[in-house]
Amino acid sequence: MLPSSVIQNEYHEATKHSLISVQLDPNYVDASTQPTAFKTYPHFFRRFPLNADHPIHTFLALTSAITYQKQYRDGVHALRVQPSAGALYPTELYVQIRGVEGLLDGLYHIEPQHERLTLLYELIDDGLEGYLADQRLIQGFIFLVTCVYFRSSWKYKNRSLRYCFLDSGHQVGAIEAAAYVSHFPYQLQFDFDQLALNDDLGFDTQEFATAMVVVGEPKQTTRPKAVRRLRSPLPQVPGTDYFEPNRFIESAYQETFEGVGSREWGVGGADASLFYQSAFPFTSDQWREAILQRRSARRFYPNPISHEAFLTLCEAFQQPIPSDLAEDLEIYAVVHRVAGLEPGLYQYPFHDHSLCLKPGEFHSQTGYLCIHQAIARDCAVVFFITSACRNYRVALQQAGIVGHRIYLAATALNIGCSGIGAYYDDETQAFLGSDRPVLYAIAIGQTTAPKLVSA
Ligand SMILES: Cc1cc2nc3c(=O)[nH]c(=O)nc-3n(C[C@H](O)[C@H](O)[C@H](O)COP(=O)(O)O)c2cc1C
Repeated sequence: MLPSSVIQNEYHEATKHSLISVQLDPNYVDASTQPTAFKTYPHFFRRFPLNADHPIHTFLALTSAITYQKQYRDGVHALRVQPSAGALYPTELYVQIRGVEGLLDGLYHIEPQHERLTLLYELIDDGLEGYLADQRLIQGFIFLVTCVYFRSSWKYKNRSLRYCFLDSGHQVGAIEAAAYVSHFPYQLQFDFDQLALNDDLGFDTQEFATAMVVVGEPKQTTRPKAVRRLRSPLPQVPGTDYFEPNRFIESAYQETFEGVGSREWGVGGADASLFYQSAFPFTSDQWREAILQRRSARRFYPNPISHEAFLTLCEAFQQPIPSDLAEDLEIYAVVHRVAGLEPGLYQYPFHDHSLCLKPGEFHSQTGYLCIHQAIARDCAVVFFITSACRNYRVALQQAGIVGHRIYLAATALNIGCSGIGAYYDDETQAFLGSDRPVLYAIAIGQTTAPKLVSA
């Protein structure tokens, strides 16, 4: 039998872009057939508005808020704290709240379009802990990130598998950022009984759980008791107004239940039983402002960013990922325009000049590799993330988390940023000289024109 990492890599292999594949399938869709971007539970569930003056409510709102209304040809799109491939937002966010003053112990669905919580389920001795490896009762919050995959597969077909997981990673990154602003420690859980949880939450196969983020602490008792699973299942409520199944995505998701990675922390290598408080090189006020201001740059001016800003940004995204499952991410930087840094291909850690793998001017090449996108040509740096993918769902989400940190750090440094999910896979991998698949690209650069120097 093939190891599950090999099987999962086959899904990556099957969704590769090449010069020919993008010509054969340019992803044109009729915008009028777009499925709904928000899930709404029936009217009889109780709603609780999030109050902007209440610190806990603000923390919850920051995890998924709408921060901009953008006019497109087909109508207005509600853009959010997290980016999303094609602004299709396949993710949904739920939160279990226990032992928090002023809030009922329960499982809630977050409705960013109405800035409110929908109470789905009141807790007694049961809860989401029952689906985790460590079933001790958690005081605080357990966020559950899910994907309503058809919102993305509607346009991107099988390749949307990647975008569902990358977008989930960005959603996790948005929770991490909100926790940082509120000084809350947190921990990521990727290994839980997803099959049972999806079933108990009434997701059918249209929606699936991708990650949990625990922001709280295990209750300290002399004889800790396991929390049991939900005593009664939730009704099935669809996440879109209509649905077209995609068996490729459904079976790829199922494969990721197997072959979980090592049970260690990610980048930092710390103790998995501990909760972690991020140490981003920004104050919580700066991070809050970055969360609210973050947008994807739609063009760059080809003038350099400072070396100091580049190093600060690198420090921000290299913070540990406190997760039950570690994935070995490799991060490359193709430096085009960083003052005082020789252009070329670099690999983490970027402050060490000896790690310049290949000096040279590669802006035209990255523009081409990212399917002729000008942002990848005119930017200051394109980051590429690769991984051996012990678990495909986890690796892509961790790449999304790193991408989210790059977005926020760039915003805090007044630099533009855009995620890039479209690139020629094999040619990009060959350019990097890596034996691992390329999971994600992120461009950063200047979004204001260079100042004219008067003679
Ligand atoms: C996984 C992912 C892939 C993306 N790929 C591209 C891309 O290839 N080209 C691009 O211009 N923008 C890309 N974006 C940016 C989205 O278009 C953008 O996030 C979306 O339009 C919402 O806008 P906002 O980020 O300003 O809120 C990507 C974003 C994500 C999260």
